[in-house]
Amino acid sequence: MDKSEQASSVYDKIAEPYAKEFSKPSEHIEEFLDLLPKKAKIIDVGCGVGVDAGFMASKGFKVIGIDLSKEMLNIARQKYPQLDFRQQDIRKLDFPSNLFDGIFASCSLIHIPKNDVFALLENFHHLLKKEGVIYISLQGGKSEEVFVDELFKPDEKIFLNIISFDEIKDLLVKNGFSIVKKYEREPKSKNELNYTKLYVMAKK
Ligand SMILES: C[S@@+](CC[C@H](N)C(=O)[O-])C[C@H]1O[C@@H](n2cnc3c(N)ncnc32)[C@H](O)[C@@H]1O
Repeated sequence: MDKSEQASSVYDKIAEPYAKEFSKPSEHIEEFLDLLPKKAKIIDVGCGVGVDAGFMASKGFKVIGIDLSKEMLNIARQKYPQLDFRQQDIRKLDFPSNLFDGIFASCSLIHIPKNDVFALLENFHHLLKKEGVIYISLQGGKSEEVFVDELFKPDEKIFLNIISFDEIKDLLVKNGFSIVKKYEREPKSKNELNYTKLYVMAKK
């Protein structure tokens, strides 16, 4: 099992408390949707318990949610039975090119090893239509790979790829994206990891 698969297996064990704590749509999701045409096709990569996918669908967008964690997806399917959720590794997506108007990656790239992020973004670029938009939220700060205690299950360690803004900007630009928006904030509750929250939107 690699680091990202291990992280998803931890989510299998914490799906219920995670769903209780994170029941609201992600920050800056509306700014992302404002950058897309009406009824645009969006893939939510690392969709977890489906809250963002459900919110985007409620606004008329066509959404597919992808996650590796069976238990996170079980909750997503119970909450939003009308939506298309698939258990897949976001590093192995094989949809046709130019299929999606938007890619939504809320706190999922944090579990992808640094060695895999370039190829992942290369594939995301391939999947997006021209002018398509990607939303990425991260645990930001000084670039490092770490294992931290999982907040909902402190006896479990979970892998994190901490990515600085310059690092993600460089990876995006090298893959043909241009940055359109960036937001940052410090953690505001004990149920958040102690890293700067970084939100980046970029266009193909
Ligand atoms: C912090 S949660 C974020 C969930 C949701 N996007 C949100 O913002 O609430 C990270 C999610 O990414 C998923 N994940 C991690 N690595 C993955 C991979 N390689 N492929 C698919 N999903 C992955 C985990 O299973 C987990 O559900």
